[in-house]
Parts: sequence; C-alpha cells; structure tokens
Amino acid sequence: MDSIVIRGGAALNGEIPIAGAKNACLTLMPATLLSDEPLTLTNAPRLSDIRTMTTLLQSLGAEVSALQSGQVLALSSHDLTSHTADYDIVRKMRASILVLGPMLARDGHAVVSLPGGCAIGARPVDLHLKGLQALGADLDLRDGYIHAKVPGGLKGAVFEFPFVSVGATENLLMAATLAKGTTVLKNAAREPEIVDLAQCLRKMGAQIDGEGTPTITIQGVDRLHGATHAVVTDRIELGTYMLAPVITGGTVECLGGRLDLVAAFAEKLDAAGVSVEQTPRGLKVSRRNGRVNAVDVITEPFPGFPTDLQAQMMALLCTAEGTSVLEEKIFENRFMHAPELIRMGAKIDVHGGHATVTGVDRLKGAPVMATDLRASVSLILAGLAAEGETVVSRVYHLDRGYERVEEKLGACGAQIERITGQ
Ligand code: UD1
Repeated sequence: MDSIVIRGGAALNGEIPIAGAKNACLTLMPATLLSDEPLTLTNAPRLSDIRTMTTLLQSLGAEVSALQSGQVLALSSHDLTSHTADYDIVRKMRASILVLGPMLARDGHAVVSLPGGCAIGARPVDLHLKGLQALGADLDLRDGYIHAKVPGGLKGAVFEFPFVSVGATENLLMAATLAKGTTVLKNAAREPEIVDLAQCLRKMGAQIDGEGTPTITIQGVDRLHGATHAVVTDRIELGTYMLAPVITGGTVECLGGRLDLVAAFAEKLDAAGVSVEQTPRGLKVSRRNGRVNAVDVITEPFPGFPTDLQAQMMALLCTAEGTSVLEEKIFENRFMHAPELIRMGAKIDVHGGHATVTGVDRLKGAPVMATDLRASVSLILAGLAAEGETVVSRVYHLDRGYERVEEKLGACGAQIERITGQ
C-alpha cells in the first residue's frame, strides 16, 4: 500500500488545475445504459473510482474506452450482455447503485448488489428503492442483491423525497427519462452534479425541467440518443486545493474554479479571514492576515456547506485563532479524521454530531492513517502546515478522488512524495 510523505512548513504558491468532478462523472457514466448510441464524456477525472465504474459498466456489456490519457471516456451500450451488477465490483464503490435506475428503465429488469463505499455511516439505499417503486418497479431483496423488474415499463409518478439524497435523485432522474408519462421529483437534491447530469440527459434527448431547484419535472420519452458532454468542475477538489495556500500561508490560483460552485464554503473562508477572488482563469486564494479566525460550520445539502469539505475545513480550523464548532448533519460517522489530527497536536473534542476544535499555533508532523477519501486529504493539508514530517498511510482512499495530488501540490512548492508499496 502506498503512503505519502510530507515535510511541512513550506508556503504554497502557484496554480493548481482543477479536474472534472468525480461525483458528476460517476453519475454521467451510467447514463450510457439509457441509450444504444455512444456517449462521450470529456474533462473526465483520472481516478480509481472512475476505473471501478468502467469495470462495472464493462461487466454489463457496455464498451468503455479511456482516450487522451483518460480525460475522454467513450461509452457505448449498444448490447447489454448482463443485467447483474456483481457484489465484487459494487462493494468497492457505493455509486455503483446508479446503474439500477438506467438498466431498469431501458430493459425492465436489473439485479444489483447492495453497495459498499466509504465507511462514513450506515448509508442505506432505501430512497433509491422507494423512488423506483413509485415508478412501478417491483423489488425483491435477496442474498444481498436487489432484484428489480418492471414488466410493462416504468410509469411516471410524483415522488417526494423525505430528505435530500444526491444519489437517489440521480437514479430517479435517469430512470424517469424513459418512463411513460410525467415524473415530478419533489425535495430533489440541487447539487451542481445533478444539474450537470440533467444537462447531459437533455443533450441525449430527455425532457427535463427544474434541475438545480427542489422540484424536477421529467417528461418521459421513448428513446435517448448519443451525445458529447464535458464533466463539470470538481467543486470538492476545488475547495480542497483552495485550503492549501490558506493553511500554509501562500497564494494559489485554482484554475477552472467558479465561485458559484463553492459559495457557502467561500463565505466561511471569508469569515475566517481568507481572500477568495474570481479571476478570468479561476479562483485566487490567500489569507488576509496572519492566522485565520475560528468559524462555526454546519454541513448541509447544496447550496449549504458540503459534507465532503468538512474534514478539510477541520484541518484548517485546527490552526485557527479561537474555538470552532463543526456540526455534521449528513453522515453520522464522519469525524474519523479527528483522532488522526489529534495525533498531530490538534485540540478536538468530538461529541455526537459535533466537533469542537480549538486552534493551536502549530501542528506537528506524525504518522497518520487515512480512514476515508476526504479524511485522507485533510491529513495531507494538515501535514503541509505541520512542523516536521507527516506520513499518511492507506492512501488508496485518496486515489479514489484526487488525481496526481503530489504533482499538483508539489508544483506549488510542497515537499511531498509518494512512497510506493508501504
Ligand atoms: C453523494 C456523494 C458524496 C457526498 C454525498 C452528500 C457521489 C458519488 N457521492 O453521496 O460524496 O458526500 O452525496 O453530499 O455523488 N440516505 C438514506 N437512504 C438513501 C440514500 C441516502 O438514508 O436511500 C442518507 C445517507 O445515509 C446520508 C444522506 O441520506 O445520510 C445523504 O446521502 P446522499 O445524498 O444519498 O449521498 P450519496 O448520493 O451516497
């Protein structure tokens, strides 16, 4: 297993290009299953999660080729040879559940293993299932698999999510494009990845209104056709790299960054004493004064503060002046980075869904372990600011969501290297 070694203390200065969004790409790829014509995705990120989705789609008979070093994905689902998403692939990544809606909509049957993914709480898929049932699907849970069928085809319906779910909104949005009649999704997720998916589906011939608002209306069509679509910028990678100059005391321009993708996050940074400037090329970020100020953070569905930036924000607040409270409202077990940050000298008290963080003058390098995707990058940020050497092990979590992290940070002056096989 690889680890990453960081010698902290260097201020980061320069430019960091931001890739296409992992989470958008992971929902755009299964959209290929809705059509027998080719789908081409440009600006794709090069990540192990994307390779896992590639393997999953290929196991169903879809053709997926990575072109231009993986930045372009050519997908075609002309003939599906299987309708079973196997446990061995699905357990590696929760987003695998996103093949269920499209397969069911296209062919009226699908068998999908119950998913795995990051260990950040129970993370059930009941909303995906309830929504598909509302569209007429007949579901049976047996041997760890969802057996789904809908002999006469899906039928449009009104479905209100009891709470916001990104994945369930995506699954239902895709399924509803081929359902007979009109589907109205209420209390739908509003994330930029949903908007991106709707835009791609529209290019494929879907009739969708209201994406980016809590009510999405889909008028089912008989078939979808091929399309080419550029994956939206990764707002979580953007937010992560925006913190690199803040935690180390430098200035970095995040290329391709857009303020509208990270507005709630940028507002908190502003309150903490950080300058975020939209330039023609991206977002330029630096600290306004010496140390940042403590701020309180509550994670919420978009447009609120994203749970996927909570761990990274905690790393920053470990070095802030004063005491901050972070409240995690999306996932119940998402403070696993806290004990690792404490090993680096952070003062954090976790109580239920809250973490109280009292800033210290300086973090200290230590051997730490990545527990999930966003936790792993929070430890890297902490390591960049810490005195001495930090070794982050189990970085396979990191490779699921961040491409060439050592290269991107190294180009801005970070002393960071990957040690393979440890
Ligand atoms: C997506 C993102 C993930 C992000 C999360 C919240 C992808 C691939 N992943 O995950 O990075 O952290 O949104 O922004 O896009 N829930 C249920 N039943 C369900 C579905 C969800 O109880 O059927 C719960 C979850 O356990 C969680 C909350 O709803 O507590 C929100 O989860 P959801 O928005 O569905 O997250 P994901 O789509 O899995």
